[in-house]
Amino acid sequence: MSEKKKKVPGMAFLTPCRAAAIFLSAFLLAGIGAAVWAIVTFLIKPEDTGLYDVQVTSADLRLTVFDRTQDRWRFVCSSSSNELLANISCEEMGFVRALNHSVYSFLEGSNDSEDYFCVDVEQLTYGKKIREALSPCKCEIGQVLTVQCQDCGRRSLIVDRIVGGLDARQGSWPWQVSLQYDGVHQCGGSIISDRWIVSAAHCFPERYRHVGRWRVLLGSIYKAPTHNSVHIAEVQTVVFHSSYLPFVDPNVDDNSRDIAVLALTNRLQFTEYIQPVCLPTYGQRLIDGQMGTVTGWGNTEYYGQPSEVLQEANVPIISDAVCNAPDYYDNQITTSMFCAGYEKGSIDACQGDSGGPFVAQDTLSKASRYRLLGVVSWGTGCAMAKKPGVYTRVSRFLPWISSAMRTFENVPGMHKMSRT
Ligand code: ARG
Repeated sequence: MSEKKKKVPGMAFLTPCRAAAIFLSAFLLAGIGAAVWAIVTFLIKPEDTGLYDVQVTSADLRLTVFDRTQDRWRFVCSSSSNELLANISCEEMGFVRALNHSVYSFLEGSNDSEDYFCVDVEQLTYGKKIREALSPCKCEIGQVLTVQCQDCGRRSLIVDRIVGGLDARQGSWPWQVSLQYDGVHQCGGSIISDRWIVSAAHCFPERYRHVGRWRVLLGSIYKAPTHNSVHIAEVQTVVFHSSYLPFVDPNVDDNSRDIAVLALTNRLQFTEYIQPVCLPTYGQRLIDGQMGTVTGWGNTEYYGQPSEVLQEANVPIISDAVCNAPDYYDNQITTSMFCAGYEKGSIDACQGDSGGPFVAQDTLSKASRYRLLGVVSWGTGCAMAKKPGVYTRVSRFLPWISSAMRTFENVPGMHKMSRT
């Protein structure tokens, strides 16, 4: 074979070595081409614009859902389950509820027979993505759903200890509240609606279970009502997670499910200083290394004093793998928690910050919003090297929060609720 090849003019240069080189470069070029193609298609895919799959058009509030099989957005056809669909879709996007919903009539004449999504009511349930209950359709009724969700996660006043933190400015973290028992600050909390606050289960041990002795201080960076923006609210209901094990057995080492919600007796009037934070979207994943902000009036040192002025500190999310390493928390970090902080320590939440927010900003719903990714839960000491702050992973408790709000809407008192 090699003899013959040598005799063919023009193929004289094609030694086996050269052939191999040509083949290799062709292979490499093809590889580079494929990689470029992959990157380009990856970049132009709508999911990579950072937008969540369910959106509301800003001009006319039409609900729109991304169809991944066809790579396009579809409006959702009006049906008898508009109210439920409106509520679930707001929740799925991280808005606590729908304020109202309506229909938008469109002119006939769409030549595409499958331009819309129609809902299968049977498939529609809280906690499940609405996409699973939708299928392409013509929407002959000629009306699509519009929905207005409760706004959240925006700071109207941007004037721009925790250990190693900075003083916050009035109005910069308008969802931060101080939970006080008999007038004494115990924990932080976050406003999620005009009635509900999210905090930690461990803020409600047996000796703190008289709902009438709790007060919520809102709209302040001080723990005392000094500014005229400050509001003090009474608490009607507290619901904590019944599987927060330290309440069941004080000897257990598992601090999972450290979450609670509180309902205020009277609905809040939102102001520049009092605003709700968004919840994560359904299925939102945390990104290792992503920066978040933790705020609170906790101690500025482990053996120190609580802070008079609200403190804020920026810390990155640490992966579970790193945080579970033997020199970190040695497998104490469960799937319902996450860690945030620096390897060297020095910046962290501390005693008294518990129940308070760990937030991060994103553009999943177009406008930039802050979402409550974590609730300050525990840590070994404060700001120690390789002992970062541990937070309740809020995205894991969206069904729990939603069902606690619906179940205990009108049930005053102290309650525990298990997973639903
Ligand atoms: N459990 C503490 C509290 O009751 C919060 C601890 C947070 N600790 C930390 N190192 N990040 O306030």
